[in-house]
Amino acid sequence: MVPADPPRPPGSGRSSPEAAGTRRLAGDAAGVAEAARLLCAGGIVAFPTETVYGLGARAADGRAVARVFEAKGRPAFNPLIVHVASAAEAEALAEAGPEARALMAAFWPGPLALVLPVRPGAAVAPLVLAGLPTVALRMPDHPLARALLEAAGPLAAPSANPSGRVSPTEAGHVLAGLGGRIDAVLDGGPCPVGVESTIVMPDAEGGARLLRAGGLPAEAIEAALGAALRVETDPARVVAPGQTASHYAPRGRLRLEAMEAGPGEVLVGFGPVRGEMSLSPSGDLREAAANLFAVLHRLDAAGVERIAVAPVPETGLGRAINDRLRRAAAPRG
Ligand code: TXA
Ligand code: MG
Repeated sequence: MVPADPPRPPGSGRSSPEAAGTRRLAGDAAGVAEAARLLCAGGIVAFPTETVYGLGARAADGRAVARVFEAKGRPAFNPLIVHVASAAEAEALAEAGPEARALMAAFWPGPLALVLPVRPGAAVAPLVLAGLPTVALRMPDHPLARALLEAAGPLAAPSANPSGRVSPTEAGHVLAGLGGRIDAVLDGGPCPVGVESTIVMPDAEGGARLLRAGGLPAEAIEAALGAALRVETDPARVVAPGQTASHYAPRGRLRLEAMEAGPGEVLVGFGPVRGEMSLSPSGDLREAAANLFAVLHRLDAAGVERIAVAPVPETGLGRAINDRLRRAAAPRG
């Protein structure tokens, strides 16, 4: 499905070359068609989702997937999320039990990735799985992502940032981080949710584990399951290999729970704590999630070295926001 657009002259989706060989494609039917053509030819293309921009390769194309790891500088033991156009497509790749089906029905398309046992012989390159017997699957809720998935999916896609850095929520962030290393970015403007998907793994006992807090509040998942999510706290048993302490890091140092700016610091406010900028002046967690990475990118671009961030409550989307802030503040590995 492609968003309705007036007819355009041929080639209007092929915007000007930018960032040494990486093209910025317009977020219209022609741009989607060109992105799909590049992907089907083994290319790697960044595309918008409701959470953050992903760097896509066709999931079955091992060479293209290898280029994704290379472009990001991502360790090959960190598996990728496979993006699908429907729950049926997900079930062709993985085995879904009753909990997984209930969660797909309740929350797809949307910011929820499910880790499920991969079907033997599924058309997914081994590098996508990084040796795990499971695959992370997600159906994004964004018209351009869905149109692209209909045309060229399933797509393996990590967030479209250099490994360890802040995820991109605008096409300009993608070009700043990966320009020259990827074929194109499909420009869909800012991502409405702004933090990555929530990752959940149903378990044998009929419940589910929360592997990463994200754009779908854990409370909503618990309400749908009628049970609390289990949270893995033993780092030795963490199953989402990308969940290392330092991640999502801007270049500057971060201090959390700040009520005011210290010497040399730029204060990022929230609610009543006023700063030079604010995640949300009204204390709205959705607005704060949508602004979070753009604020960190802006501070990076300005070369700010000391960042203080106001407290954010640990409920709903606040859990994902605080998770990303704590990783951003963690000592660098
Ligand atoms: O919102 C999102 O999820 C974005 C957009 C582009 O969809 N994608 C994203 O991908 O955040 P990435 O690669 O940056 O994060 C994926 C996470 C990693 O922490 C990875 O370790 C975990 O998912 N993961 C992938 N496959 C897994 C598996 N089979 N078991 C456990 N964790 C898995
Ligand atoms: Mg990422």
